[in-house]
Formats: sequence, C-alpha cells, structure tokens
Amino acid sequence: MGVLENKARARLFYKYLSKVYDQVNPFIWNEQMRSEALSLLDLEAETTVLDVGCGTGFATEGLLEHVDEVHALDQSEHQLEQAYEKFGKRGPPVHFHRGDAERLPFGTDTFDVVWSSGSIEYWPNPILALREFRRVLKPGGQVLVVGPNYPDNVLAGKLADSIMLFYDEYEADRMFKEAGFEDVKHLFQGPSYDPDVAITTIGRAPE
Ligand SMILES: C[S@@+](CC[C@H](N)C(=O)[O-])C[C@H]1O[C@@H](n2cnc3c(N)ncnc32)[C@H](O)[C@@H]1O
Repeated sequence: MGVLENKARARLFYKYLSKVYDQVNPFIWNEQMRSEALSLLDLEAETTVLDVGCGTGFATEGLLEHVDEVHALDQSEHQLEQAYEKFGKRGPPVHFHRGDAERLPFGTDTFDVVWSSGSIEYWPNPILALREFRRVLKPGGQVLVVGPNYPDNVLAGKLADSIMLFYDEYEADRMFKEAGFEDVKHLFQGPSYDPDVAITTIGRAPE
C-alpha cells in the first residue's frame, strides 16, 4: 500500500498542497479532460450529483455547467476552505460535506450520478468506497471515477505503487464489478504530453 493511501497522511498532504493546488492541477488534470469526462454522463439541470473528493472544486465547477446543484464531499478541511471561497460555504449551488469516501453520510438511493476525480488513489479500501457509491446511487444511476493510470515502465510502476494507488483497465474492471457496477467502461485521458496519465471509468448501478 502506498504511503498516501492513509487518510491521516492524505489530510496532512493536502493541508500543504491546498495552497497551490489550483496552480499545479492543470498540468495533469485540465479543463479539456474534465469536459471529455463530463460528456460520458447523462446530465440534466435537475440531475442529483455527488462529487466525492471535491477538493478545491475544480470538477464541481465543471459539473455546475450541466446541473443546477451539486453535493460535494471531501475529508480535507483545507481543500474545502479553498472551495468555499469559490462557491460560498452553504449552497445552493454547492452543498458541502466534510466526510470520508468510504463512509458516505447519505441515504441509500439518493443520487443520479456519483463523480470522483483524482481521489481514489488515496483511499485505503477503494472497493469499500465504490460499494458506498453504489449504495447512494439510485438504481440505474451512473458512476464516474478518474484515477491514475498504471505506468508502462517497471521502475516507474514500483515507484508509483510506493506512493498511492495506480491501476490499469483490468484492475478497474475488477474493482467496479466487485462493487456491483454494470456496463463498466474505461477511457484513457491526459494532457498532450502524456495522453494516458489518467484512467476514467464509468459504470451503472443495477436497475
Ligand atoms: C487530487 S484532489 C482532487 C480534487 C478534485 N476532485 C479535482 O477534480 O480537482 C484529491 C482530493 O481527494 C480528497 N480525499 C482523499 N482521500 C479522501 C477520502 N478518504 N474521503 C474524501 N476525500 C478524500 C483529498 O482531500 C483531495 O481534496
């Protein structure tokens, strides 16, 4: 397990990274990638959406181009503080929640869509979190998760494993199916200099 797949360490990491997150983020996760990922979802103004690991609200902002309101959750108070500055602390349009991806504070069958970008790599038990996503999704609801693609190079792979979760499409398939999702599909995405840096997985909760 990577050094950052630990909730307390990830919180400490983001205490410092939150100060520069919006400046650093576009080098690996940019607006074009976000739009491409958003286009995979069925979004209408009234669609109920949860953004897990919302951070400073980069994806939340993209979601709000399609839907009226978003529920956004993160475990880092420092990341959330940055997001509050953009959207206000209390919604609408954004309803913030401080919490853990592996223990979502929402009832069963609540959302049409659960989105999570750039967060799964920090979760100690991703299948537990994905099962939570399935629980809070309405039957037939869509899940979309953006995570880091496993590096081709063996040495880079070993280094990646020591830091956080990196996975390929086979591992993504296994995790999403084990969590109970159907119609699981993957898309590789990235900025022009590294077009496969991210793996985006979509799936559906059973009807
Ligand atoms: C790379 S940022 C992604 C932010 C945003 N989703 C985006 O698209 O830019 C990862 C976020 O996941 C959050 N995170 C990590 N582990 C978490 C957990 N167990 N529960 C909730 N949020 C978590 C971090 O605090 C951080 O804000």
